[in-house]
Amino acid sequence: MLDLAGVNPDSVVYDLGCGDGAVVVAAARHYGAKKVVGIEQSKRLCSIAIAKTKGLKNASIIEANYDDVDLSEASVVTLYQSASENARLKKKFLAELSEGTKIVSHDYGIPGWHPTQLSTFKDHRRGYRVLVYVIGSQLPSRPRVALG
Ligand SMILES: C[S@@+](CC[C@H](N)C(=O)[O-])C[C@H]1O[C@@H](n2cnc3c(N)ncnc32)[C@H](O)[C@@H]1O
Repeated sequence: MLDLAGVNPDSVVYDLGCGDGAVVVAAARHYGAKKVVGIEQSKRLCSIAIAKTKGLKNASIIEANYDDVDLSEASVVTLYQSASENARLKKKFLAELSEGTKIVSHDYGIPGWHPTQLSTFKDHRRGYRVLVYVIGSQLPSRPRVALG
């Protein structure tokens, strides 16, 4: 996911629903992102994520509903939510994210938006997809206008 998003030391990554913090740790430790913020509503998962990110100065975990967190500084947003949740998040993405921000979604697409990349992977358990969207280039193609 983070490879496809091109995460690098200039990246500001927000992980929406960070669970136990695996993506946050990878982005902060292995990709050396400038800043990584994981947001998780489950107290239990948050404590695991906080423990895992201890000592990582570029990572933080917020226990919150991500609806209530401003995403505007993100250059990359990662998420693993349902398609209906992704559809609901479109309004927030368009309101808060700047042009060029990448949204990287595990398995589920953002209904009505076109990914700029779609890759499939197989790990030891199962296959999964990663879809990349870029704010400013994700809207549906314009309908063709008949000339003459
Ligand atoms: C499928 S898990 C993904 C966990 C992790 N990101 C991963 O890839 O392994 C989805 C996570 O999103 C969290 N979540 C769902 N809705 C949320 C919301 N509105 N605000 C914060 N966290 C949320 C859930 O508690 C759950 O931990």
